[in-house]
Amino acid sequence: MKKIIWMLLGMFCLPVIGFAGHLEPFRDVPVPEQNPQTPAKVELGKKLFFDRRLSGDGTTNCGTCHVPEQGYSDELEISLHYPTTRNWRNSPTLINVAFQKYLFHDGRASTLEDQALFPMMSAFEMNQNLDYLEEEIRSVPEYVAEFKEVFGDGDVTRERIAMAIAAFERTLISRDAPLDRFLAGETQALSPQALKGYEIFTGRGKCTECHYGFNLADDRFHALQVRENPEHLADPRIAATRRFVAKVYHFEEYRTLAEDPGRYLITKDQKDWKAFRTPTLREIASTAPYMHNGVYATLDEVIDFFNAGGGEGNTVLKPLQLTGAEKEQLRIFLEEGLAGEVTTLTYPKIP
Ligand code: HEC
Ligand code: HEC
Repeated sequence: MKKIIWMLLGMFCLPVIGFAGHLEPFRDVPVPEQNPQTPAKVELGKKLFFDRRLSGDGTTNCGTCHVPEQGYSDELEISLHYPTTRNWRNSPTLINVAFQKYLFHDGRASTLEDQALFPMMSAFEMNQNLDYLEEEIRSVPEYVAEFKEVFGDGDVTRERIAMAIAAFERTLISRDAPLDRFLAGETQALSPQALKGYEIFTGRGKCTECHYGFNLADDRFHALQVRENPEHLADPRIAATRRFVAKVYHFEEYRTLAEDPGRYLITKDQKDWKAFRTPTLREIASTAPYMHNGVYATLDEVIDFFNAGGGEGNTVLKPLQLTGAEKEQLRIFLEEGLAGEVTTLTYPKIP
């Protein structure tokens, strides 16, 4: 009996676990048991996401740096910041963020519920005091009524604020891209050029060593040695931000830290020095600039980076020797093949 159960389990589990090299069509959004999705919760989360009350000076909301019209990212190399400070990293897209096992470029958060409080508290992002925020939201009768409808009583807590925002974020999905239709058997779904690009992506380009599964991401961290932007390295405000985050994460030499340590910041494991999370490539055409520090403005630049075998000194990538035409086909695949239908958004009325 036990054997049969294991066999059955194996049959069900195998196709679910992505393994290197395999791309998968759309699958359902994972939702944690502790925070079930309800339409009213999503609606409340959407209001909070776009409410400037969430920032200390009332000027920014989550959508300021995750702009729906810009693929829920922004067009800046490194993101906007609280007045007089400067951010240190590129704003990642929130499309399909529900599928990410690790959040942030260094993976320092792992659930959307945990993550949502970081930008509100961050001194260089929204710089809000959460005790104050709870009172501020509690002072708005419409919100109290909605918290009551969603959570059973009208109590406004930071945890509930985060739960509602997370529920909204889980609705931001890209699906039915040409790649999904192609994988489902529609042979004409990719244009001839995109199809050639797909063959490079899954073949000689070796992209699927890391970009695989439904979300084209392996939930791992790699030190590709993406170059630093000298202007960022020279900015004392960015240095302050970097050292501040490092101090919070118990990085002993935080005062002398001169570059972004990546995943090392969290694990203190030498192999993670300057390693960053593999990002999703869904809707990649609308989320420029690229990489954790936005150092590449276009997909052509990113492809040149991989074609050259990654950044100086990396031991992960090898030169690919793609011709000009092949690089173009790869770009066309990324642009066309991964652009699907993104959840339509109607902006909420903020109470
Ligand atoms: C001032 C700009 C800014 C604001 C405002 C902001 N974010 Fe972000 N967000 C960023 C940046 C930059 C990162 C990446 C930071 C890092 O990796 O260290 C990020 C990362 C994230 C991530 C992780 C995504 C991933 O794939 O890892 C989520 C989720 C997110 N933000 C949600 C929110 C929510 C919810 C709010 C509002 C409560 C918010 N953000 C407000 C700039 C901003
Ligand atoms: C060894 C793992 C690995 C391989 C192989 C790989 N990538 Fe990546 N890719 C990453 C990581 C990690 C990042 C993020 C680096 C950073 O933020 O500094 C990334 C970033 C990107 C980005 C930018 C995404 C964004 O939102 O900023 C694109 C585009 C991309 N890769 C495409 C490709 C293509 C095309 C190939 C094949 C030619 C490829 N990758 C091969 C790991 C890999």
